[in-house]
Amino acid sequence: MLKLLRTIDELNNWRESKGITPSKLGFVPTMGALHEGHLSLIKKAKEDNPFVLVSVFVNPTQFAPNEDFEKYPRPLEKDCEKAESAGADAVFAPSVEEMYPPDASTFVDVEHSMKDQLCGASRPTHFKGVTTVVNMLFNIAQAGKAYFGQKDAQQAAIIKRMIRDLHMPVDIVVCPIVREPDGLALSSRNVYLSASERKHAVILNQALVKLKDRFMAGERSVNYLEDFLKNELEKAYLGRIDYARIVAFDDLSELTTIEKPALAAVAVFFGSTRLIDNVVLDPGGN
Ligand code: PAJ
Repeated sequence: MLKLLRTIDELNNWRESKGITPSKLGFVPTMGALHEGHLSLIKKAKEDNPFVLVSVFVNPTQFAPNEDFEKYPRPLEKDCEKAESAGADAVFAPSVEEMYPPDASTFVDVEHSMKDQLCGASRPTHFKGVTTVVNMLFNIAQAGKAYFGQKDAQQAAIIKRMIRDLHMPVDIVVCPIVREPDGLALSSRNVYLSASERKHAVILNQALVKLKDRFMAGERSVNYLEDFLKNELEKAYLGRIDYARIVAFDDLSELTTIEKPALAAVAVFFGSTRLIDNVVLDPGGN
């Protein structure tokens, strides 16, 4: 039976009653509205660990005032059912008050240009909110391993950097992007799309697939490949490109030629809904 934990005390009691030490616990942080992408992380965590904890917390500090914090979907009961079916042992779903004391004044921020570009350019406070809450959640969960999706490639890179810099005792496992049959990356925000926006949204994946073909055929110029990517994305009449960039995979720094693993990342607005997707371009791999 899945255990629903609403407070940190309840979580501590659960861990103690089951004799769960960090090496026995896999942790999957989420904001809920679970879909197959989230469930793939839970399944992988269950393969690797005797116990799996999933957090469901819509974190206010990673949303800007004009963003969708209020309207973000919160179907907790369904989330618990889905999490359990994927192998979770417990769901930690705290209130905002449980997580943030009213005078909370400590934040964790990765001071590197990697957080100011791509999604960071249009969401300047976003990653500070993410690193702060992930830090809090790691302290609360006390898990040996934590699972993240390659879907949010910039988030994964920034969290890896935070863990390295602060010597945090947790291993990060990054799992592949799960997609709809037509290629659209699963996202809790896909529900905001109108029927015609939904049709056009496949362009993100289609453009990245074509880009990867060019790369595999030997093209290594970042200028050329970025222009190619933008041209492909412009075929989505209902979308407005936020960014289409190719950067270094590890620290998201600028490249002129791809001689080491790179990340091609795109963000496109459909109305007020912003969708992201990416592909890894590895000159040594496939
Ligand atoms: P959320 O958007 O709910 O995503 C939770 C995890 O699921 C992230 O690691 C994300 O990369 C992964 N994920 C989402 N869609 C995916 C897909 N299609 N395939 C594979 N994995 C996918 O990311 C967050 O929440 C928050 O920022 C959080 C880390 C929980 C901090 O608040």
